[in-house]
Amino acid sequence: METPTPANWRQATDLTGKTVVITGVASGIGRATALEFASAGARVIGGDIARERGEQTMQEIRATGGRADFLPLDLADGASVDAFAQSAMDVLGSAPDIIANVAGLDRVMPFLENTPDVWELLAKVNYIGPVRLIHRLLPHMVERRSGKIVTVASDAGRVGSSGETFYAGTKGAVIAFTKSLAREVARFGITCNCVAPGPTDTPLFNGAITEKLRDALVRSIPLKRLAQPSEIAHTIVYFATPATDFMTGQVISVSGGLTMHG
Ligand SMILES: NC(=O)c1ccc[n+]([C@@H]2O[C@H](COP(=O)([O-])OP(=O)(O)OC[C@H]3O[C@@H](n4cnc5c(N)ncnc54)[C@H](O)[C@@H]3O)[C@@H](O)[C@H]2O)c1
Repeated sequence: METPTPANWRQATDLTGKTVVITGVASGIGRATALEFASAGARVIGGDIARERGEQTMQEIRATGGRADFLPLDLADGASVDAFAQSAMDVLGSAPDIIANVAGLDRVMPFLENTPDVWELLAKVNYIGPVRLIHRLLPHMVERRSGKIVTVASDAGRVGSSGETFYAGTKGAVIAFTKSLAREVARFGITCNCVAPGPTDTPLFNGAITEKLRDALVRSIPLKRLAQPSEIAHTIVYFATPATDFMTGQVISVSGGLTMHG
């Protein structure tokens, strides 16, 4: 069955009646994404390892009349990811219309100082965990013949980043996974797209950088500032709306022009 084309921009960006599972809602981009999804009309299920702050984000949504539930999630733990996916489906009564994988973890240090436990943790949180979550929810989207999957990588995964070598590898994996999955599930009416943030004003970024480095980085960004979390969130939500029904397997950098891809 063909999806009707939205009549105008307002309809094309309306998510009323849609459901979304978002990871990383306790902080930064994930929190902003949850708020933006709710403002577009979607019902939100938010997961995070930080329970109290994750629940706070959901309360903020409920306070403005939206529908939102928090469920605990540790992406580094397979059993936790499975339980999260099942609970999300129990709460919603079915699979979500949208999955937005936003949670992520970075450890900035020279590659030579990495220890295998750092690789394992980053691989689990940034790659294996999100893959497992999608794998759990996907069969139900396939059955329904519709769905939108949005992943969050990083420009580090596109152009590399000194001090973030393994992290960049996990984000490169997210990009390749998103494109390949997009090819596999297009026939079921499911789109998969990826947002690659550049330097964004969040605890993850601010905890990883000195003030001097931050100033130098800002000077090298053509738009001369960091992204605000809501600016990344807008692109994540965009990929979940009917406005992007004909886009799949795409990666968009939101970086103030720091990276320009052909
Ligand atoms: N801030 C940037 O400059 C920047 C740049 C490129 C990409 N990103 C990506 O954007 C995404 C969001 O990052 P942010 O900057 O908002 O960071 P953040 O630290 O503010 O938020 C990350 C969230 O992920 C959650 N999280 C961490 N480990 C988890 C786990 N094991 N299980 C479940 N949740 C867990 C944290 O509790 C936190 O709420 C990440 O994927 C990050 O890699 C950020």
